[in-house]
Amino acid sequence: MKSYGKHALWVLLCLFLPVTAQAAELQLTSPSGVVSVYQTDELLSHPQARDIVVANDGGYGQDMTYRAVPLAAVIGDASAVDDQTGLEVIALDGFVANIPVPLVLRDRDEGAQAWLAIEPEASPWPNLPGKNVSAGPFSVVWIDGPASNIRSEQWPYQVAKIGYAEFPTARWPQLALAEDATENAKHGKTIFIDQCFACHRMNGAGITELGPDLNLPMNPVEYFMPDALFMLIRDPATVRHWPEMQMHGFTDDQLSDGEIHDVIAYLTAMASR
Ligand code: HEC
Repeated sequence: MKSYGKHALWVLLCLFLPVTAQAAELQLTSPSGVVSVYQTDELLSHPQARDIVVANDGGYGQDMTYRAVPLAAVIGDASAVDDQTGLEVIALDGFVANIPVPLVLRDRDEGAQAWLAIEPEASPWPNLPGKNVSAGPFSVVWIDGPASNIRSEQWPYQVAKIGYAEFPTARWPQLALAEDATENAKHGKTIFIDQCFACHRMNGAGITELGPDLNLPMNPVEYFMPDALFMLIRDPATVRHWPEMQMHGFTDDQLSDGEIHDVIAYLTAMASR
């Protein structure tokens, strides 16, 4: 092939690449440790696959329609896992969500239902707001999520692996507060694990690779002015801004002012530990 021919081929490739999503693989580990790998097409043709409408989708911030399977249908027999174990959902960028198993197994009338949305190769999803990638290839979404207080970080997108793991508090003693910690700090610890631990380690605890450890080597309460730390958690871009920044802000619905103060109380209590 002459070089201009190669060039033309590249131009053609570049023209066509963006309109189809990549075929992707999802790694699922059962409670007994059996690892299975599913392809996009296998999941799309799963007997329980449906078209679902997700109101107020956590990733896109708007109503979305997906081809999806109930999460409970693909995670093996979760009924026997003990109450110290949850689902660990790991995204391509190193985000790690921990989702309690009972939330995934409950019936429709008991609250929000978790589904695994599958991005079809032929009709890719739109890019996420402010990002140049979609929520695919797989994403955990909830029907009636906001109504059932499903936390914003319990909507992991760009999912690569789903398995089981002991809850963070049972797995990592270094998350623990001192016995005499305040109620605010204790509440802040719960919020930290739901809303921050997906991207931040604490005292070396955690497996996420996205954001900095929030106690080692230093805790942000030791180098941020209190107001600036509050503002940074509410909306990092009000404190500093650059194109590749990864931490998003939290709306009042996702994290109230009181909850942010409680998270800061947890950070403050951990600074001496
Ligand atoms: C989606 C991932 C994500 C979540 C969720 C998240 N963060 Fe972050 N955070 C980051 C990343 C990544 C950085 C590094 C700066 C950047 O890229 O935005 C960061 C930076 C920070 C910093 C600044 C640290 C420094 O030394 O510069 C603080 C403080 C912080 N986060 C606190 C929190 C708290 C508290 C929560 C929970 C309420 C939280 N973050 C939730 C990803 C996240």
